[in-house]
Amino acid sequence: MAPEPDRITGFVLVVAAVAAVAGILFGFDTGVISGAILFINEEFSLTSVMTEVAVSAVLMGAIIGALFGGPLSDRVGRRSSILAASLIFIAGTFVVVLSPLFSIFIIGRILIGIAIGVASFVAPLYISEIAPESIRGALVSLNQLLITVGILVAYGVNYYFAGAGDWRAMFLAGVIPGTVLLVGMFLMPRSPRWLMFMSRPGDAAKVLRKIRGTADVSDEIGEIERSVRTEGAGTWSDLFAPAVRLPLLLGVGLAILQQATGINTVIYYAPTIFQFAGLAEATASIAATVGIGVVNVLVTLIAIWLVDRAGRRPLLLWSLAGMGIAMLLLGVGFALESGGAGGAAVSLGQVTAVSLIIYVASFALGLGPIFWLLIAEIYPLSVRGLAMSLATVTNWAANFIIAATFLSLVDLIGESGVFLLYALVALLAWLFVFKLVPETKGLSLEQIEAYFRSRGRPGG
Ligand code: BGC
Repeated sequence: MAPEPDRITGFVLVVAAVAAVAGILFGFDTGVISGAILFINEEFSLTSVMTEVAVSAVLMGAIIGALFGGPLSDRVGRRSSILAASLIFIAGTFVVVLSPLFSIFIIGRILIGIAIGVASFVAPLYISEIAPESIRGALVSLNQLLITVGILVAYGVNYYFAGAGDWRAMFLAGVIPGTVLLVGMFLMPRSPRWLMFMSRPGDAAKVLRKIRGTADVSDEIGEIERSVRTEGAGTWSDLFAPAVRLPLLLGVGLAILQQATGINTVIYYAPTIFQFAGLAEATASIAATVGIGVVNVLVTLIAIWLVDRAGRRPLLLWSLAGMGIAMLLLGVGFALESGGAGGAAVSLGQVTAVSLIIYVASFALGLGPIFWLLIAEIYPLSVRGLAMSLATVTNWAANFIIAATFLSLVDLIGESGVFLLYALVALLAWLFVFKLVPETKGLSLEQIEAYFRSRGRPGG
């Protein structure tokens, strides 16, 4: 029997778009600190260690949020967890904006981090559970699109308030997306899959009828019910059950690789990298950085268009190949320059700009959106919250480690050494994806679950 085409309603698009606003919070905070930190430094007269604490407090918070977000999203639900995250985000923002002391500022940053840690994975999780199969990739990737938009908006906000040196206003702008998310999610339905998990089939059917725009949702309800019955409610130790082992390895592995290929050294340190390359003027390096932000948004749009057509695997493989080549180019460029090949036809500044653009475009085409998409697709319903939580904690911890070590690594092995190292990690990541990541395009979450269950069986 040919599968029935999915029903795509306007309502499901609205629900996904509202939940994806969580991505703006994530991206906004990633981008805003770089502009604000100079002025915060001045106001509180920070030492370099204190500056590092000011920047990384959000990452610490995000690790905590991601850890508790899993059990939270299984217990109180996906929608309520996103609501809680937006409230904490708004509260944290006010603490930061009003902080009279550096210690209070840090508390606010940790609160913001906790909110982002929760929202960073519960939003993709929620979207994956309401989306029809045929456009699930695109809808979940809206979250990544809004991460990239959030980064760009933050650059704009930084630029706007930099003249007055008003770092408090920079942070205050975050209240706008925070409030949109809070009010918007309040109006959205609960995840039908979570409702089934909580043994509320009547409510689940009601939501499904509305988001699918049809009265007959018995097939989908039946499919979800079977998977709930097979699995039961999960605990942390269930993460090591044979059927979950491979998905767990995939989630944690991709979480590390998404960060260890260096994306945030580019996002956080692009102006510094341009200055290493001899672009002496700060304005030129900042303009180049905005260019990178724009490429990140535009190519994520292309990824959204492609992810349900080409599939996850090809995009990931092309993405990693492009990232690896770009890092290789950058590494070789810096090596030649320090080897005294100055006066060549192309300058190191040009090589840097071209390689960073290829790099970010390649990331945006695959590894950026697809990491968050895959971890929302590959886990059985019973442990979905916990398993995503673990992958997300790993992602934030790796983010923290990579960001914290970049400059010291440059001191240790030089710019070219660091970029070549990232190129090597991209190669390993390519092999990892090639060997282990299955194609999930067009499959229902329950079919994906059945696939991993059969692989987890002895001899499977
Ligand atoms: C990553 C972030 C990164 C962002 C850049 C996300 O998928 O998880 O660490 O800053 O993409 O677009």
